[in-house]
Amino acid sequence: MAKLEFDDDFAALMEEFNISAGATERRRRISAALGLKPRMHVLDVGSGPGHQAFEMAQIVGSQGHVEGVDSAEGSVETGTRRCSGLDNVSFTLGDAYNLPCDTGTFDVAMSSQVFEYLDDAPKALGEMFRVLKPSGRVLLHGTGWGALLWHSNDPDRMARILKVWDGHLADPRMCETMAKKLGDTGFDGVSAEPIVHVETSYDLSSMSAILTKFVSGYVVSQGVSEAEADSWAAELRERGESGEYFFSSNEYIFTGGKP
Ligand SMILES: C[S@@+](CC[C@H](N)C(=O)[O-])C[C@H]1O[C@@H](n2cnc3c(N)ncnc32)[C@H](O)[C@@H]1O
Repeated sequence: MAKLEFDDDFAALMEEFNISAGATERRRRISAALGLKPRMHVLDVGSGPGHQAFEMAQIVGSQGHVEGVDSAEGSVETGTRRCSGLDNVSFTLGDAYNLPCDTGTFDVAMSSQVFEYLDDAPKALGEMFRVLKPSGRVLLHGTGWGALLWHSNDPDRMARILKVWDGHLADPRMCETMAKKLGDTGFDGVSAEPIVHVETSYDLSSMSAILTKFVSGYVVSQGVSEAEADSWAAELRERGESGEYFFSSNEYIFTGGKP
């Protein structure tokens, strides 16, 4: 199945998604797990619209630096715009498989919601390992799509839609193998912590309501009829109106160190 296009429509939805309460809390958790300090040099692989880079830049301060690398021109432009008032952040067009960065440069290399899209995670991890300084830290964050709970009175339709949605990723089960892959790359002290996200009401600005737009657009592009996608999304809104809404996702933060 076709992967998601990182085009202008995707970038616009990503902007909306990233200001939701769920995504804001996620960034806070990621920043806390990174253990950032002033003067650190940080790499953000697949930096997208640059919200995390912006926040990390506040912590590392004027003598530190955050470098965002993304393979989509639109992402690099949006990130650059977002951080235009900061002189300790830069964004570069580049590929996770061949980072445009010198060896042994960064104190921290992180990546959020990107490795699910990569066909060759070990190669990209090898690149993050290469560009870290000795004793540098790596952080990977992603969603465990296999652990999603989204209540519906038509569970077969929900399962059908989510099965098609899984196709937007190279590896929807990326989190389940990430600890082993980090160890195989050479990182030590690898650990994982969950971010459990729960919504019991339907709010248009919530993470799951915005996710509904990503899912609808993608599944229709993959042959699900508009009628089926519309009735799936309508049921979620109706469950919200009747007070029966439930959405829960498990995300995971993996950390490790370069010896
Ligand atoms: C779901 S978005 C996440 C963006 C950002 N990390 C965030 O959490 O807001 C995935 C991003 O990864 C980028 N990406 C996908 N494949 C990539 C690759 N091979 N190298 C670099 N960036 C990539 C996309 O362009 C997109 O901006």
